[in-house]
Amino acid sequence: MARLPIIVAPDPRLKGTAEAVHTVDDDVRKLMDDMLETMYDANGIGLAAPQVGVQKRVIVADVARQGEDSAPMAMANPEVVWESDDISVHEEGCLSLPEYFAEVERPDQVRVRYLDRDNKSCEIEADDLLATCIQHEIDHLDGILFVDHVSSLKRNMILRKLTKAKRQGVLETA
Ligand code: NI
Repeated sequence: MARLPIIVAPDPRLKGTAEAVHTVDDDVRKLMDDMLETMYDANGIGLAAPQVGVQKRVIVADVARQGEDSAPMAMANPEVVWESDDISVHEEGCLSLPEYFAEVERPDQVRVRYLDRDNKSCEIEADDLLATCIQHEIDHLDGILFVDHVSSLKRNMILRKLTKAKRQGVLETA
């Protein structure tokens, strides 16, 4: 496995639409493994392939809390096939927007269809933090960042500060 460099916003590679995976083969499995290693190394709970510069519809997540056994998940072509009318609000962060957080409203529960690492079609129901995390990661596949869900005032403030930090070389950039 290999740790991959994470792209920091603003960056056009975070604004594209990722392509569907045809088959989960050894190459995609290696990408999933590398993304999990990268996510754990960065203390994240989710990561999407565009964040490491790969425009494929692949996400990984692990929302196990401290003290719980790790619960790595890897999904190709994840798709929300049902969402609850109930909305919940979570404070979200993102490895591509380091050190910034904002409250985002999303459906509280979702059902997600995806291909697992054995190329098998699966469905899970997620709620709470996992539901938020999966929706956040699927957004990345369509070029959407969590700051796109908050006011333009707050979004512009965060992106301006990140641009400045990148220019000053404060942030490690990919
Ligand atoms: Ni993110």
